[in-house]
Amino acid sequence: MTSTPLERARHAFHEHFNEPPTIAVRAPGRVNLIGEHTDYNDGFVMPMAIDRGVYIVLRPRTDGYVVAYSADYHEMAQFDPHELVRGEVVGEMWAEYLKGVAWALGEAGYPLHGWEGAVAGDVPMGAGLSSSAAIELATARAFHEVSGFDWHPATIARLCQKCENQWVGVNSGIMDQMISASGQPGHAVLIDCRSLETTPVPLPEDTVAVIMDTSTRRELVTSAYNERRAQCEAAAAHFAVKALRDVSVSQFEARADELDEVVRKRARHIVTENDRTERAAKAMQAGDAALLGQLMNQSHDSLRDDFEVTNEALNVIVDIARAQAGCFGARMTGAGFGGCAVALVAADKAAEFATHVSQDYHKALGLTANIYISPATAGASRIEE
Ligand code: GLA
Repeated sequence: MTSTPLERARHAFHEHFNEPPTIAVRAPGRVNLIGEHTDYNDGFVMPMAIDRGVYIVLRPRTDGYVVAYSADYHEMAQFDPHELVRGEVVGEMWAEYLKGVAWALGEAGYPLHGWEGAVAGDVPMGAGLSSSAAIELATARAFHEVSGFDWHPATIARLCQKCENQWVGVNSGIMDQMISASGQPGHAVLIDCRSLETTPVPLPEDTVAVIMDTSTRRELVTSAYNERRAQCEAAAAHFAVKALRDVSVSQFEARADELDEVVRKRARHIVTENDRTERAAKAMQAGDAALLGQLMNQSHDSLRDDFEVTNEALNVIVDIARAQAGCFGARMTGAGFGGCAVALVAADKAAEFATHVSQDYHKALGLTANIYISPATAGASRIEE
């Protein structure tokens, strides 16, 4: 089946609701170019919104209810956004994202009008491309369109993160929601995860970001993620700062031997990654693809050796990517332990790159990689019908 998620959502709407939809919204998944595990250290990240996302076609309802059909799970959910109970809807997790966003918006005092809609997406789940942020931001955007409250991307992103942390129960940072809210066509976005200031930075001319899904997934991501967060907090406490963002590379080096070995490695990754991310933004502004690629390579090596969040599949696919003609650099992306890597590749070599990486990866591990070449797209928005 080759229909797009927007077509599937429209089709499902016509099947399940009586009148035609009046509004369509989209929120993207993301790929992070550099700045990994820095967001919960108040640091810098540089993701871009991708062409895969979550779509909702909808129309307002007058009875205050939200009635939503998932074209991906073939399931209907219904709730009163003013009287939310966790897990009240039997079935898939997707409806909890809708309810959790309604809960976070409601807690913050936003007026919530009811709507009926059909939801469909094409961000692969569990691949590290932020399918959950995409459904959260699409839901928030749907409520915005029918309820008319102000849309400040950073404020809405914070509320969607609150949904993720407190309703869904995943202790993630702010990166995914921020980029799904504030993506810029043709640009990655440097995000200061303390101030939430955003700076769009163009991809170097004639390069593309190639996403390489290893097709490996790891179950224990949550406990490993929380353990890394605790280790980073321990290091920040040792330096008597609010977060590792406040420690420079030279300050770290001067006192690194006071830390125990594991905490030292974790902190070294964060401190150097923040530095790399700021330098990567400058490299992009200067159009320096070679330097950006080198920084991406260093980022991966640091995530592999110091932060220890890669797996064999990620290390293998990154090595294969780096060996191809036209590749400036490659690294794992997202939380790690499986999922996707990203490479910066010369645009005219990208198709050949994808073919060779798939072949060599299959030869090396017997696994099938999914390769996507994605442009950078806009953050959550209404799509004109
Ligand atoms: C996950 C989290 C993000 C971020 C990344 C690692 O994607 O949701 O907040 O911490 O891992 O950079």
